[in-house]
Parts: sequence; structure tokens; C-alpha cells
Amino acid sequence: MTNESIDAEAAVRQICAAYADRQGPLLPILHAIQKSAGHVSDAAIEVIADELNLSRAEVFGVVTFYHDFHRKPHATHVLKVCRAEACQAVGGREVWSAASTVEARGDVGVEAVYCLGNCACAPSVQLDGRTLGRMDAARVTALLVSGGTGVPT
Ligand code: FES
Repeated sequence: MTNESIDAEAAVRQICAAYADRQGPLLPILHAIQKSAGHVSDAAIEVIADELNLSRAEVFGVVTFYHDFHRKPHATHVLKVCRAEACQAVGGREVWSAASTVEARGDVGVEAVYCLGNCACAPSVQLDGRTLGRMDAARVTALLVSGGTGVPT
């Protein structure tokens, strides 16, 4: 065990202790760890399970159930690509395919979502909370290649 992992474990145990007297402390602990570390690692899940006397599977189940918890360090930019029917019917598959292919080039994480409430302008994506419609493979590729800074108009 490295000094870094000992520090990380100590930090997780400290956060768990801060919420120990709360009823249902798991979610507040997970939020605090994610806020502190940017994600909830497998090592943190193990420590939380130990601290709360839960199985790792129980903690893992909660972390993976909620879409906003991340198990790995999160990218600087997040591109959500709608994969629901209205978008799929007008080119959403090509947008998803292009976004999935280009993801590795920059610090942009690509996530599938199911309706962004922008069906009238499908296919839709959302970059760092900004919804963009009428996307196609070329536009989403340009967006990703620019590292999330080249928001098309
Ligand atoms: S189905 Fe894609 S935004 Fe609604």
C-alpha cells in the first residue's frame, strides 16, 4: 500500500466519520467523496462498506444506480448524446457513433442520455449543460476535436 493510497483511505474514513451519526449516511458520504476526489473509486467503495458495515455490492449498487456518481476521474467536459427515439429517427445513431469514436482524442467524456427535452430540434446533444440541436456526425466531431470549446451555432 502506497502513502497516497493510505492518505486516500484516511480521507474516506474521515468523511465517513463526519456522517456517522446521520440516518442513512451512504448518499451524503458518496456525494462528499465525489466532491472531494472527483469520483468514487473501487478502493473508496471498499472503505465505505467497511465503515458502514455494508457489503461492497450494496455500496457498488448505489454508486452505479445514480448516474451522477462517477467511478473514474471525470473528464473536463461532458457531452451527453441523446439516444432516445426522436433523435435516433433523424440521425442520432450517426451522432452517437461519431461521438463514441472521437472521445479518446480530447478531455471530453461522452455519455448516453435518453431525451434532453429538445426533440423538436433532434438529434440533440448537451455539452457542459448547454443543449445543442440539429447535430450530425460532422458537427459533433468538430465539437469534440475542439476539446469542447468549439460550440457550433
Ligand atoms: S428524444 Fe432526443 S431530445 Fe428528446
